[in-house]
Parts: sequence; structure tokens; C-alpha cells
Amino acid sequence: MTFEAMQKKVATYLDEKRYAHVLRVVEMAEKLAERHGVSVERAKTAALLHDVAKNMPKEELRQAIEQSGRDLEVLTFHHELWHAKVGAIIARDEFGIEEECILDAIRYHTTGRAQMTSLEMVIYLADLVEEGRNFPTVEQLRQVAFDEVLENAMAIAIRHSIQFLASKSVAIYPDSFECYNEHMLKKGK
Ligand SMILES: [Fe+2]
Ligand SMILES: [Fe+2]
Repeated sequence: MTFEAMQKKVATYLDEKRYAHVLRVVEMAEKLAERHGVSVERAKTAALLHDVAKNMPKEELRQAIEQSGRDLEVLTFHHELWHAKVGAIIARDEFGIEEECILDAIRYHTTGRAQMTSLEMVIYLADLVEEGRNFPTVEQLRQVAFDEVLENAMAIAIRHSIQFLASKSVAIYPDSFECYNEHMLKKGK
């Protein structure tokens, strides 16, 4: 499937607002991929598909995860996290994406994880700092995503996410903690 064909198909899965976000993530992922020497084509594909399951009803998301037999633990966490796992399933089954690295970038875009690939970090960061985001520290994070090496940008981004989630008193998925710990331990902290 061409990128344009995929784009048209993705639009049928999403409401207008979400689709606009997705296009901004594609744009940001392209820039970050270029900046950090990551495959632009893979980054654009992963970005285009990262939220493809975002508008699915909660029960359908649950069913898809149960059927896949993978990532079942995520079902005990907030349903906001579920679309990433189902997005990877849809990308594979309905868009024919076979490259596991692209599927993983989709699968881990909400939580991060330990041992992230450069592509995974690009997608995580692009989703966080796309031009439509307007949380207080977004400009700073956007700058960091371009100025720092990917690992450093990711360390700052995951710290930001953990702090945000803790400030809302919500449970934090283990992959996010593992990601955070890995980066802090690398810094010797
Ligand atoms: Fe998402
Ligand atoms: Fe997103």
C-alpha cells in the first residue's frame, strides 16, 4: 500500500480531530527522523498508524487485546493505554505492515519501555511534542527533542510523563517505569 493510500484508509478509522493530530505527528516524526538519522519512511508509517485504534470503543479494544494473547497486563491499567497495543494489531492485519520495528513503535508509543529503538523514541517524542500540543513545558521538550541526542531527549520526556501521571495520582504502567529507570541508571542515578 502506498503512503497516500494508507493515509486515506487511516482517515476512515478516526474522527477529524484525531486525524489532524496524526498528520501533525507524521510531520514531526519526519523532522525528528531526519534530525536523528532514523529511517524517514518507517517513522512516517509508524506515525501515521500510531493512533489508528484511538477511536475504537473500549470493549472492542479489550477484545482485540484478549484475542491477541499479548500485553494482557495492560487491561488492568487505564484504557487510555490500550489503543497502542491494538494499533499494532490493526497495522499488521489491516494495513499489511510486517516490519516488527514499525509495529513496536506503535505498540510502545503511549508507555515507552526499556531498550527502546531509535524509531520507537522518535515516535514517542513526535507524539508528545507535535505542533498542536500545548501543555506548559511543550516548547522546552520540543527543543530538547531536536537539540539533544535521542537517548537524552527520551530520558527527559519519560521523566516528564512519569511526573505528569504521578501528579494526577494515576497508576503507571511498568514499561514506563522500566524506561525511566533505565535512563536514570545510565546517568548513574
Ligand atoms: Fe496514542
Ligand atoms: Fe497520538
